[in-house]
Amino acid sequence: MSKIIVEGSNRLSGEINVQGAKNSVLPVLAASILCRTPCVIHNCPDILDVDTALRILKHLGCKCQKQGTTVVCDASSITNCDIPENLMREMRSSVVFLGAILSRFKRASISSPGGCELGPRPIDLHLSSLKALGAEIEEDHGYLQCNAENGLYGKEIHLSFPSVGATENIILAAVCAKGKTVIHNAAREPEISDLADFLNRAGGKICGCGSDTIEIEGVSFLNGIEHSIIPDRIAASTYLCACATANGKITLNGVIPAHMISVLSVLRDAGCDLDIHNNKLTISVNGRLNRVPTVRTLVHPGFPTDAGPCVIAMLSRAKGTSVFVENIFENRFRYIDELNRLGTKIKTEGRVAVIDGTDHLEGASCSCTDLRGGAALVVAALSSEGVTEINNISHILRGYDNITETLCGVGAKIKLVV
Ligand code: EPZ
Repeated sequence: MSKIIVEGSNRLSGEINVQGAKNSVLPVLAASILCRTPCVIHNCPDILDVDTALRILKHLGCKCQKQGTTVVCDASSITNCDIPENLMREMRSSVVFLGAILSRFKRASISSPGGCELGPRPIDLHLSSLKALGAEIEEDHGYLQCNAENGLYGKEIHLSFPSVGATENIILAAVCAKGKTVIHNAAREPEISDLADFLNRAGGKICGCGSDTIEIEGVSFLNGIEHSIIPDRIAASTYLCACATANGKITLNGVIPAHMISVLSVLRDAGCDLDIHNNKLTISVNGRLNRVPTVRTLVHPGFPTDAGPCVIAMLSRAKGTSVFVENIFENRFRYIDELNRLGTKIKTEGRVAVIDGTDHLEGASCSCTDLRGGAALVVAALSSEGVTEINNISHILRGYDNITETLCGVGAKIKLVV
């Protein structure tokens, strides 16, 4: 089984080119289904979730090629409208393909995505919204059979929670629907705006992304375009936390600081020196960090739940006690028992984690429980005395593009053992 080996206590120094955003490239790849001509998508991260998404597109009948960080998708001769169980189980966020398939074929059949490491992960908001647009959806032996034989029609939709995936599914279903759709209480994450930018340049008519009200005027077709995926704000946050914990000075290239304001605020509170210059972000840290006021995860532009695990790992080395409240997912602390094997002193009670900072962590053997929890183990291992062995690392490889090479490039002693 592959694992990551880290020899801790090395300061970091150098530059990192931040990968494209995992949570943007997935809905953009789904959107390529709607385009009559080929799409060229640049700055795609080399991660397992992109490989899975390409396998789904090929299963549907798309012609896909990956050349480095560029993916070419041609959906002109797409034939299938189903996503089989094995692919859905590999990546539950494949549900974001549903709206696009339904729009293209007026029917779709996908295996129910089920839960994941973060909890049950319901999709009720996705399904109720697609039904509002005219789809009939039945659950049959673990499959969702969806039909919209008369096509999809624009509607006013109010989301009870600003779900990122549901907002994306509605946009993908509504962009070529008949009439106008308005999403109230829409998600405001930057990845939604990146999807809308892609669709508008392909011929769509979407406005309001970044706000909580999005309007989509249905159009009859979309043409393929060239698009470059926005930088991954969570991967960028991960590398900032790595430097903050291990000490040193690194510069992140190709970031959008405006996407990371809430994370940068916490890093400053902890005592990190941050210098922002256009799309470059330099962090410099010497010595132990300070505790920070209570951090609460919220929907964007609040503190992002995905940045939580690495910030908690960073705060495990701070002077004093910090409190972290996870408000988005109900079961996002499973990795903390693994962190505590390295000597962190973190207690959890429901959605609350209490982090008693310690000045000493010891390398140990540990195992990833999920994507961002695995990254948190890497962050903590970088400042631990001795060697840490991190197992079950397929979680990390789902979302981080060459994380070991990236960190090696700034002085970390870390390697991937296949
Ligand atoms: C997206 O997941 C991201 N994934 C997640 O990133 C991220 O944590 C999350 O948004 C929140 O920002 C991708 O974009 C691929 P949600 P998504 O729908 O769309 C509840 C990572 O590490 N909910 O906004 O699934 C749900 O249970 C991943 O990169 C319903 O109740 O998130 C959760 O409590 C992890 N019913 C909350 O909303 C629904 O129909 C947020 O879910 C949908 C969601």
